[in-house]
Amino acid sequence: MTTAGGDSVTLRFRGEEHAFPLVEGTEGELAIDIKDLRSRTGLITLDPGFANTGSCNSAITFIDGEKGILRYRGYPIDVLARHSSFLEVAWLLIHGELPSRDELDGFIDRVTHHTMLHQDFGRFFSALPKAAHPMPVCAAAVGALATFYQEPESEQKVQESIVRLIAKMPTIAAYSYKHSLGQPNMFPRNHLDYSSNFLRMMFATPCAEYEIDPVVAKTLDMLLVLHADHEQNCSTSTVRMVGSSKANLFASISSGISALWGSLHGGANQKVIVMLEQIAAEDGSADRFLQRAKDKDDTTRLMGFGHRVYKNYDPRAAILKEACSEVISRLGASSELLEIAMRLEEIVLADEYFIERRLYPNVDFYSGVIYKAIGFPVDMFTVLFAMGRLPGWIAQWLEMRRDPAFRIGRPRQVYTGATERGYDSKVGLRSAGAQV
Ligand code: CMC
Repeated sequence: MTTAGGDSVTLRFRGEEHAFPLVEGTEGELAIDIKDLRSRTGLITLDPGFANTGSCNSAITFIDGEKGILRYRGYPIDVLARHSSFLEVAWLLIHGELPSRDELDGFIDRVTHHTMLHQDFGRFFSALPKAAHPMPVCAAAVGALATFYQEPESEQKVQESIVRLIAKMPTIAAYSYKHSLGQPNMFPRNHLDYSSNFLRMMFATPCAEYEIDPVVAKTLDMLLVLHADHEQNCSTSTVRMVGSSKANLFASISSGISALWGSLHGGANQKVIVMLEQIAAEDGSADRFLQRAKDKDDTTRLMGFGHRVYKNYDPRAAILKEACSEVISRLGASSELLEIAMRLEEIVLADEYFIERRLYPNVDFYSGVIYKAIGFPVDMFTVLFAMGRLPGWIAQWLEMRRDPAFRIGRPRQVYTGATERGYDSKVGLRSAGAQV
């Protein structure tokens, strides 16, 4: 970040002028540095949804939403999706550079040898209702890791926590599924790679092995890569906010999983499939959904469309769309949902409402079609998103903690409630019939 060529922005307020410097990112993005705004003017900014607010400097992920560009640490997402493994990308996000062969082998080895959960975790899962959605189960389980690893967070301990989190997340995710089925948990196997191990823990039982299809494992790994970071989205900002109080890594990530669960964020991937299945049940016509999504008096949204940052095709959706046909034909799965999705996309991209608002398919639109073809239950879709996003959350949490400008996150507000009122101690409670 540099100061932009001596430029500044001037604010005129009550007859006085206040100049605020501009800062420029490495890709030319400009921002007004307002950290002295309140101390100099008494003013604060109001920005619902933080649509115009940069909360931090970050060197991890770059998005150009107008052009549909996404890069991790400078590397284009399509290149990483094609050539890198998820653990390689995790290292890249966390450490800032691609690993050397030795670094990657060492990292894979450490992750592989931390995949088991403490035996007492069995009691944790059995205490939860079988019908529980796996997202709150995962959030609770990741939070519970903080009860097993309570040492003060030295740099070395943080690195151990990072390995443990990445290693145990697939185990936690698979156990949350097994718990819902009432099936025994499958222990991780150290000879398998990250994604194959997860597939086996999900789908094998003690009575029947699961045959791992290398193409499916590779596709899953690529899906994790595509989800690995996305700069200051809702869940990542949550992880940063919680971490800014110096809450530990497990607690911070647990809060990110909770934030991701919402249907406007990661939870959309589950809702997309529900929507496509409903369209299929209605003779494949998307008319009803489109009308409802466009109706101002209806809160329905077309799930998997639109993005705060992308005003162009989400590059992740483009990669996934291509992968869908490959996986479906490889697995011989039904292509009905993919066909409906592609038809829907065609209609939407030609519709004035969506054109005007620049609403394109996002990452959640096609991911569920692949998950479903692989055999994942719909409830697990957002968990898969969380598994993928984990290294991004970790990298952002670390970056925040090491930032020389580190401060606890504490936004202000414009208060709109009652001004001071008297309290009648004889009456106390509000008298019946009084206005609220
Ligand atoms: N269907 C219908 N209308 C939409 C949609 C949609 N999916 N998305 C946005 N709009 C309309 C919205 O009603 C508004 O119209 P108007 O200007 O007439 O009031 C306009 O487009 C701008 O929308 P917004 O709500 O101001 O946009 P936002 O940046 O606050 O919200 C979003 C972004 C992703 C929450 C939203 O597009 C949405 O709800 N999409 C559906 C849910 C979804 O797919 N979420 C996944 C996001 S990508 C992955 C992730 O982050 O997890």
